[in-house]
Amino acid sequence: MATPALMNTYGTRAATLVKGEGAWLWDDKGKKYLDALSGIAVCGLGHSHPSVAKAVAEQASVLTHCSNFFDIPNQEELAENLCAVSGMAKVFFGNSGAEVNEAAIKMARLFGNKKGLKLPTILVMDDAFHGRTLATLSASGSRRVQAGFEPLVSGFARAPFDDIESLNKIAENNPNICAIFVEPIQGEAGIRIASDGYLSRLRQFCDEKDWLLMLDEVQTGNGRTGKYFCYQHSHIIPDIVTTSKGLGNGVPIGACLASGKAAELLQPGHHGSTFGGNPLACAAALATITTIQTEGFLDRVTALGERIMSGLRYELADLDHVKDIRGLGCMIGIELTKPCKSLFSKAMGKGIIINVTADSVVRLLPPFIMTDDEADHVVAILAPLIKAFKKD
Ligand SMILES: Cc1ncc(COP(=O)(O)O)c(C=O)c1O
Repeated sequence: MATPALMNTYGTRAATLVKGEGAWLWDDKGKKYLDALSGIAVCGLGHSHPSVAKAVAEQASVLTHCSNFFDIPNQEELAENLCAVSGMAKVFFGNSGAEVNEAAIKMARLFGNKKGLKLPTILVMDDAFHGRTLATLSASGSRRVQAGFEPLVSGFARAPFDDIESLNKIAENNPNICAIFVEPIQGEAGIRIASDGYLSRLRQFCDEKDWLLMLDEVQTGNGRTGKYFCYQHSHIIPDIVTTSKGLGNGVPIGACLASGKAAELLQPGHHGSTFGGNPLACAAALATITTIQTEGFLDRVTALGERIMSGLRYELADLDHVKDIRGLGCMIGIELTKPCKSLFSKAMGKGIIINVTADSVVRLLPPFIMTDDEADHVVAILAPLIKAFKKD
């Protein structure tokens, strides 16, 4: 199907998917695909997860939406649950990654304005991706998402990712900076993982400067890296963290969490969302977070990712055109020496769903419920495709 009634923002689509169960998806012709992408880091619990499906169905039959003019009991329960799992103090709910990142950006501006800065400025990273709204595309580091949408939103300065040394000079040159906004792992930029100690040093730097440390965990959150949030590998607490994608296992919801001096920034009238944190979305998110919190679940995310990575490392060892295989938990990148977009359709042809990002990085974001046999199947199909890709 390719109706002219849709704006062509996504180009040609690869298939028409009509059904999903566990780690599998089916197209309209009955062909099945093993999903190693989870709808871009969204369906961590796989498709049609029974407890999410039940929670959504039950909530839809009672109350779908009522607006934030009213107390919403399961929104409160979800907020308390998120605070407990993250060590953060307060939550604002939105509907998507870009939208909760907008909330974070607005909070940094409130913070900077309260400090009396003339032009509150947020330090963002080269190659970052924070979304497609005007402020978030301006904060992003890719010209590809910005081109044609000028004038960009001002109030952002830029630093190289994973480079603590550059910060002193940048701070000296820009007295208006009041926050750093960074992804713990740059997902869209090709699963770029910062060095050990990077987040702790950023935390220390922000404390010294009285800047907010704001983390974009839209992609890395909700168990994806083997901890509920990726920053928990570093034993720090950010001032602000945003998440979305996997939060509702496919039902749109985002959260902007704040702690310490950031927790009281948003006051009545500052921000809002018609749908944000409505009963239906919160029911999905509560069922999702409860499942992720079951004992041993996050260890399985780590083990699954390691199984896939070690399988790929074994199969793809010593190949000149494979530059690196890296990842954390179920966030995996295989970097090739040349652009490899065509691997996506080759993999579809063989019945697996992968993604290629940053031109030359095969990105795998498998659902956490994938079995060992399914993980081995991903490796068994993908490795020969990558091996053969050299000759294309
Ligand atoms: C790190 C990060 N931030 C923000 C976004 C934007 O999220 P959304 O598409 O839900 O607006 C994404 C989406 O890929 C992301 O990976």
